[in-house]
Amino acid sequence: MAAQSLTYTNPALRLSEARQTSGRVRWRSPSNIALVKYWGKHGRQLPRNPSISLTLEQAATFTDIVFSPRNGSATATGICLNFRFEGIDHHPFEDRVQRFLEALLPVFPFLAELDLHISSRNTFPHSSGIASSASSMSALALALCDMERLLFGWAGTEKDFLIKASYIARLGSGSACRSVFPTAALWGRWNELPDSSDLYAIPCEEQIHPDLAYMHDTILLVDQGPKSVSSRAGHHLMEGNPFAPARYDQARERLETLWKAMKTGDMDTFGQITEAEALTLHALMMTSMPPYMLLKPNTLAILEAVKNFRASEKIPVYCTLDAGPNVHVLFPDVCKTPVMAFIESELAPYCQQKRWIADSVGKGPTRLDHA
Ligand code: DP6
Repeated sequence: MAAQSLTYTNPALRLSEARQTSGRVRWRSPSNIALVKYWGKHGRQLPRNPSISLTLEQAATFTDIVFSPRNGSATATGICLNFRFEGIDHHPFEDRVQRFLEALLPVFPFLAELDLHISSRNTFPHSSGIASSASSMSALALALCDMERLLFGWAGTEKDFLIKASYIARLGSGSACRSVFPTAALWGRWNELPDSSDLYAIPCEEQIHPDLAYMHDTILLVDQGPKSVSSRAGHHLMEGNPFAPARYDQARERLETLWKAMKTGDMDTFGQITEAEALTLHALMMTSMPPYMLLKPNTLAILEAVKNFRASEKIPVYCTLDAGPNVHVLFPDVCKTPVMAFIESELAPYCQQKRWIADSVGKGPTRLDHA
């Protein structure tokens, strides 16, 4: 594939060429947690540095698209959409989905000839403070690519299909492009992996040591409210951050070290880099102009408690953070019993309503029955 020039634009994909004109596609797609973070972007959703993530299992979005030849009236820009989120018609997310679909018309011109009924729901509470754009945009991208496959056939391999879905997901939300692959994915051009690209993520499952492929990720819900600064605004602020150039070099160096650790199962190095990346992400927010902070006192208390528990019990348990105050606690399956006991007794009190989500590294998205 001619990686950097790939656009998938295809004006021939019109309904007059399709095998059928109505149908239904349904997908479940998970969220992911970045280890080396994507923070800073340019152009049309292109990352300033490569990132790598673990695909989650439980935190996921279900997306269902029912389509039929256009009967309703389109917007001025061509999409006729009825969007329902968690049972609510014309949910506020509708605008974002509408704009996303409009931007995709050069890739999927047939969307302008259809009435689209899209409904979506998350497996995790919408108010939990868990970022849902990775799961929701990847589920939507997979469903759209599946529509194309249903209507026009697909000459490529299954991997090509997922790469295209990753490309489409990226246009909706950068981190979403990593969610289409099982276990782990890397997004962003990186010299060590010739297949890597800024345009889509690539699968890493085969290279990852089994100890990491069966990790748990317990997400501690420190604060379930909306974030004061969105990720979109955060990426934008990186453009004026004086530490940005050094950060992008650092991300590449860390990726190199982390990649070796992930291949060999070197837990100590994996944990060291993962925790450093989490703090760097938040340090970048604090050094933006205007500076801001998404960490809460209980976030810091958890980070400290995990560090002490790891030192005293000699158990490989590590933390990472998204762009928010909730803490992802990562540990191998063999340590599940003592770590879960520790979380329940020592860490749950730091969580809002003592809530957490018991997640783990997962097997990637699933195509659901279309009946
Ligand atoms: C901190 O993917 O949410 O989670 O591309 O603007 O939608 P947009 O941003 P988004 O940023 C995620 C940032 C992060 C790190 C990561 O997932 O790599």
